[in-house]
Amino acid sequence: MTDRITIRRPDDWHVHLRDGAMLALIARHTARQFARAIIMPNLTPPVTTAEAARAYRDRILAALPNDAGFTPLMTCYLTDQADADAIAAAHEEGVFTACKLYPAHATTNSAQGVTDIFALAPVLERMQAIGMPLLIHGEVTDKSIDIFDREAVFIDRILRRLVSDFPALKIVLEHITTAEAAQYVAEAPANVAATITPQHLLINRNAIFDGGIRPHAYCLPVAKRETHRLAVRKAAVSGSPKFFLGTDSAPHVVEAKESSCGCAGIFNAPFALESYLRAFDEDGALQHFEAFTSENGARFYGLPLNEGTVTLERVEIRVPDRIGDDALSVVPFHAGETIGWRMVD
Ligand code: DOR
Ligand code: ZN
Repeated sequence: MTDRITIRRPDDWHVHLRDGAMLALIARHTARQFARAIIMPNLTPPVTTAEAARAYRDRILAALPNDAGFTPLMTCYLTDQADADAIAAAHEEGVFTACKLYPAHATTNSAQGVTDIFALAPVLERMQAIGMPLLIHGEVTDKSIDIFDREAVFIDRILRRLVSDFPALKIVLEHITTAEAAQYVAEAPANVAATITPQHLLINRNAIFDGGIRPHAYCLPVAKRETHRLAVRKAAVSGSPKFFLGTDSAPHVVEAKESSCGCAGIFNAPFALESYLRAFDEDGALQHFEAFTSENGARFYGLPLNEGTVTLERVEIRVPDRIGDDALSVVPFHAGETIGWRMVD
């Protein structure tokens, strides 16, 4: 049995670091495990300009120790007003690594998202030309579509057409949760990839209703039935270069989760690598762990692999019930449980 594993320092290709006091509380957990991260732009107001992205990047760096060795990779929140020239200029300058498509009203702070992605054809054409990735929250928002079907319907109604209209556009279908998504991405051309969260490898939708309603197991896209979890997990541990790590760590203060209308989002940053490693270990796929955490994403984005390593060891450590203090606290994924692994400092 392997009790210790050392891998090239990994990256998180999808994370919410928030702002203000929350940023100050949580950023170090991501910077501890990852060298770089793709930073989600769904702040209030959303990050839609290069100026806002530069300022946010500075706030992230200011929230970390000087020697954190962490690079935030910023994204542009697409709106119906997105401008191809401004986006291309910010990409050229190195401010925007990618653009994020939130279908309007799909999730937290997406009200200013896109109402018709095909109306943004000039932006998508430019992104395709300059090799700038489009990161997609892949759910339709049609209220008549069952919440558990929204990802599969998005693939059929939107994604297939996007891939055919923009055949060279780099697309990341974010946080996939279904067998349909895993199969679609596996069979799509090499410029279409997907990120996978730890929660979608480890929980199915029963976790949200386990003996009562469990707000800390609720995120979007919502966890699906067991057959889907198994399909997503098979894709993650397969060794395919199309699938890579993106935690979607999305903290909300405990009061916002434990509420009559609890926010979507699972805060998995403090033990993210441990969660993923548990899945790879259980599936006898440790030989594919490093590619998933530290190689596939960088190669897809066309960025160099990181220098340095991180080590995890097999050890039973209890995940704390809360991160933070009375003024601001967040319940982490696996709160009160043991995962079986811990990253060594
Ligand atoms: O669960 C989620 N939380 N899904 C998202 O798409 C957004 C995120 C958030 O920002 O809280
Ligand atoms: Zn997200």
